[in-house]
Amino acid sequence: MSASYEVRDGVAVITLNNPPVNGLGYDTRVGITQGLEQAQSDAAVRAIVITGGGKAFSGGADIREFGTPKAIAEPNLLSVIRAIELCSKPVVAAVHSVAMGGGLELALGCHYRVTAPGAQIALPEVKLGLIPGAGATQRLPRVLGLETALNMIVSGETVKSEVLAALPGQKLFQQVIEGDLLAGAIAYALQVADQRPLPLVRELKVTHPNAEAYLQFARNMVKGMSKNFPAPGKCVDAVEMSVKRKFDEGMTGEREIFLALMLTPECKALRHAFLGERAASKIPDVPEGTPVREVRTVGVIGAGTMGGGITMNFLNAGIPVTLLEMKQEALDRGVATIRKNYEAQVKKGKLKQDKYEQRMALLGTTLGYDDLKDADLVIEAVFEEMGVKEAVFKQLDAIAKPGAILASNTSTLDVDKIAACTQRPQDVVGLHFFSPANVMKLLEVVRGKATAKDVLATVMGVAKKIKKTAVVSGVCDGFIGNRMIEQYGRQAGYLLDEGCTPSQVDKAIEKFGFAMGPFRMGDLAGNDIGWAIRKRRAQERPNMRYSKTADLLCEMGRFGQKTGAGWYDYQPGKRDAIASPVVEQMIADYRKEQGITPRKIGDDEIVQRLVYSLVNEAARILEEGIASKASDIDMVYLTGYGFPLHRGGPLCYADTVGLYNVAAAMKRFAANPHDDAGFWQPAPLLARLVAEGKTFN
Ligand code: NAI
Repeated sequence: MSASYEVRDGVAVITLNNPPVNGLGYDTRVGITQGLEQAQSDAAVRAIVITGGGKAFSGGADIREFGTPKAIAEPNLLSVIRAIELCSKPVVAAVHSVAMGGGLELALGCHYRVTAPGAQIALPEVKLGLIPGAGATQRLPRVLGLETALNMIVSGETVKSEVLAALPGQKLFQQVIEGDLLAGAIAYALQVADQRPLPLVRELKVTHPNAEAYLQFARNMVKGMSKNFPAPGKCVDAVEMSVKRKFDEGMTGEREIFLALMLTPECKALRHAFLGERAASKIPDVPEGTPVREVRTVGVIGAGTMGGGITMNFLNAGIPVTLLEMKQEALDRGVATIRKNYEAQVKKGKLKQDKYEQRMALLGTTLGYDDLKDADLVIEAVFEEMGVKEAVFKQLDAIAKPGAILASNTSTLDVDKIAACTQRPQDVVGLHFFSPANVMKLLEVVRGKATAKDVLATVMGVAKKIKKTAVVSGVCDGFIGNRMIEQYGRQAGYLLDEGCTPSQVDKAIEKFGFAMGPFRMGDLAGNDIGWAIRKRRAQERPNMRYSKTADLLCEMGRFGQKTGAGWYDYQPGKRDAIASPVVEQMIADYRKEQGITPRKIGDDEIVQRLVYSLVNEAARILEEGIASKASDIDMVYLTGYGFPLHRGGPLCYADTVGLYNVAAAMKRFAANPHDDAGFWQPAPLLARLVAEGKTFN
């Protein structure tokens, strides 16, 4: 049973016991109702306290039961709350640490609530594309007033219990208890033991001087902020019912909205991302509890764009870093950039001056490898050339202490080859950060042939410490993310060849929801980066086919924003992309040379070719075992490539469209003489899923 029962001083104490956060799973719900029955049938019990054992009152629904019959099996949460309301003896919720979602709804069903200070109170359902589904949209406005309640429900943000308890007129908490919460709650329960009738939140009225106007205002605000997501607007609708309808009618309305939202693709996408984030940290053959190595100090080699950003991650987490460069100037430049970044944060009020100083104090610099000999983890971020990496790893191998983890931030090179430059390939791993490395959430952890399991377990833990979403990738050219983006880039090029302008392609995919289309992205990142990669790949794969427009662009010196011109023109000091007649002429000339008659291409085709190219390559990556699960690939795209969150990642989106439709479109594209028929053969895994009527996720 996931709830315990005891009687103390005539008060029954029901303690939720479902670690880590007392999720309201089936066993816990049964435990609560049985406790209520036992307490009512025991004449010696005068009142009841419900509290949570361990680190939470309750974090809400038990995510391990998501999508299983247990999640909705009776007694469901609504029935548990009804049982509390109907209990013949007063029920006091003793809230501490965390009361979120269903946990807060449970407390709202109790006759009284007391709290320890510092408890995190929230209704995060909106972040999963839902509204609260067990009465919070009707009860919270009744205890906190319309405005505070609506704010919490629409934002999903956490508010500390003592802050809520201090609001004038609030009825959420009857008492804030410093010290021993349970003793205080029992004392409070005895104090109210004989009070009748028992107070019910459902019987309170929502009062507001001008509810109609406020709700209208809220609706306008929410509309502007939640473009692609229906849930925030529905929160307003549900809360409106707490003002306008009788309680039970409001509850019915809340239920209807909740169930309708559950079926929306946006909700599916958000839940997928939520679970995908957790799933990514689990590696099938690296069991939880695998011993980890201690990482107390870090070395970073190369103080360029990436090395600087990587360093900041560790400083932010309070982990000292020694930064190594070849020359003092490069070192000074790197440190100056780190300072500049922090100072910008201080200026914006995002970072306190003393925090900034504390972080900088953790930074050491050096020109000699000897200073890295005590580092627990060393991350290399030098030029993307095998020869340079080889030299670095040989030197590292010579000085690093035994057991130190040696990582490379390479974006395309073979991690196994890098590992082979050392006598300790088991300690080598890829840690592929994304630019800007201090901002982007994604970290691809590249697992080499020899990478030890405890090294993987350790870096997954480190990733968590520096607040990254880590996804494990096997070794291949480009790993998960860049291998897929290569195909996306090739399609973008073919679209130009066949008749599109760069801005037409960018606009279509931005309308789909990408933060930035491929050409604006290229101009931002620097078109020369892709150029260098294509040159290398052309040597390795002489038969590689792609539109040469990107190379021609680079030959014109149009590297993007940094050179004032790329796929678009830029005015000095501005980032607005302006269509370039020069580029359009270059594309037109190239078409002519290739004998292609341009045609009008619709947005649908643009989006499908770009997105399905990701899907087809992803299917190959999955089948080869480069990624261990579909959701890992979606997490890479959601956190590293600006794939629209409301679509849940390329594979989640493909599942939503229907894999039959996706494969049928690929076959159509394969018939296009200007495209790559070989690429568009549906990947074997995709074909199999279609034949079996299955999905990726
Ligand atoms: P960068 O050119 O900005 O910085 C490289 C730095 O390494 C320079 O400061 C250089 O002086 C230093 N360096 C070169 N050889 C060295 C050596 N032997 N010892 C010590 N320092 C040395 O390059 P960036 O962009 O920071 O890239 C570094 C690595 O990160 C590359 O492997 C790249 O592929 C990878 N990467 C780059 C991304 C980006 O968007 N720029 C994204 C993800 C990975």
